[in-house]
Amino acid sequence: MTQTVTHSVPDDLERRPDPYPWLEELRAAGPVRRLRIRGDFDAWIVTRYDDVRRALTDPRLSSDQRHAADVYAANPLFRRKTDKPTSMLLAEAPDHGRLRGAVSRAFTARRVELLRPRIQEIADGLIDAFAARGTADLVGEYAFPLPIEVICELLGVPADDHDRFRDLSAKVVTPARDPAGMGAIVLAFEQLKAYVRELVARKYVERGNDLLSELVEAGEAGVLSDEEIAASGVLLLVGGHETTANLIGTSIRLLLRHPEHLAAVRADPAVLPRAIEEYMRIDGPNVLGVYRHTTEDVTIGGVTIPRGQIVVLSISAANHDPDRFERPGLVDLDRPDNAHLSFGHGMHYCLGAPLARLEGDLAIATILRRLPDLRLVVAPDELVWRPAVLRGLESLPIQFSATT
Ligand code: HEM
Repeated sequence: MTQTVTHSVPDDLERRPDPYPWLEELRAAGPVRRLRIRGDFDAWIVTRYDDVRRALTDPRLSSDQRHAADVYAANPLFRRKTDKPTSMLLAEAPDHGRLRGAVSRAFTARRVELLRPRIQEIADGLIDAFAARGTADLVGEYAFPLPIEVICELLGVPADDHDRFRDLSAKVVTPARDPAGMGAIVLAFEQLKAYVRELVARKYVERGNDLLSELVEAGEAGVLSDEEIAASGVLLLVGGHETTANLIGTSIRLLLRHPEHLAAVRADPAVLPRAIEEYMRIDGPNVLGVYRHTTEDVTIGGVTIPRGQIVVLSISAANHDPDRFERPGLVDLDRPDNAHLSFGHGMHYCLGAPLARLEGDLAIATILRRLPDLRLVVAPDELVWRPAVLRGLESLPIQFSATT
């Protein structure tokens, strides 16, 4: 290893008004840099679009943390990674294909499309709850609860359990401000896993027309273990909640910040999906990047990363790379060929991307239709970002003409 660690991930990276100059500095310093990541691990970061995209399809860069077990174990607070992953997100071939195959057979385009009327109902119901008030926090009262309700529907969480599920999901994504807060998150995560395990057991007895019931059938056919079914359920929730909530909040902020975008979307609703893609490129939920682990020595941009290392593939740095996106800092709804990497790329490409896009489109279109004169209570640049690992707004206070 020739490079020494020259950078540390700033604690406040995701809540900076503009986190991207820090990544640009890294890219300017070289295509691959050594840095200390949160949790105090030494890692490598890849920042150029072409390198990140290629690395996302390189089998020598694995999601399985066991390949860098020594690096993780160097921090006494972290357990040595020895367990075989039960979640596709951390699995590699051939398990990844089996896990992802079973979930994608149940999570079809048809199932997503069937959710459309329910998502509309959920969006309208959330707006009904505050429409008469003339003020709302669009993050707390809309962007956050909406994806949880959608996932309840997708997984087949019974109506009586929605409150419990909502409560645990909210705790899992509540930013930890101290060790007690961290303990509360770990506890909520364990309780959520226990709840999903319990739900899986119930689906064995009584099937519904939902995704978890289909996974239980894959369990009966011997394709998935019960632990893998539960891990898939938890992954769909955790992977699809905060990310989608942030997408909705950030997109509404950017629309209100750019009145010309708002006018374009109002004139032609077909512009909205394009706007959402550009908002995901310019300010997506994943700022730092996705983690991989080298299974052998890998050379990227002339730098050789030894086997057994943690590598961060920076999605946001790639999305802001001027060699790939002309004037990357400009929010341009007419950007041609906007192949951003916010949903990843390659074998771990986001399985929920079609659902996230549908939720984003319906949620934002419904707000614009129902609250035609909505305006922010504070300036768009004064909004506060959540102290979390994903980038999202803490709140989005708005005013509008009250309706009954
Ligand atoms: C994977 C982003 C919404 C389920 C991923 C990955 C990214 C991502 C970057 C790749 C991770 C990696 O390569 O290590 C997002 C964003 C979303 C979103 C930005 C919203 C704006 C959703 C939703 C669901 C979902 C709504 C499901 C309900 C998944 C799953 C994977 C995944 C299951 C793992 C795929 C695999 O490992 O093969 N997501 N996601 N995501 N996402 Fe999403």
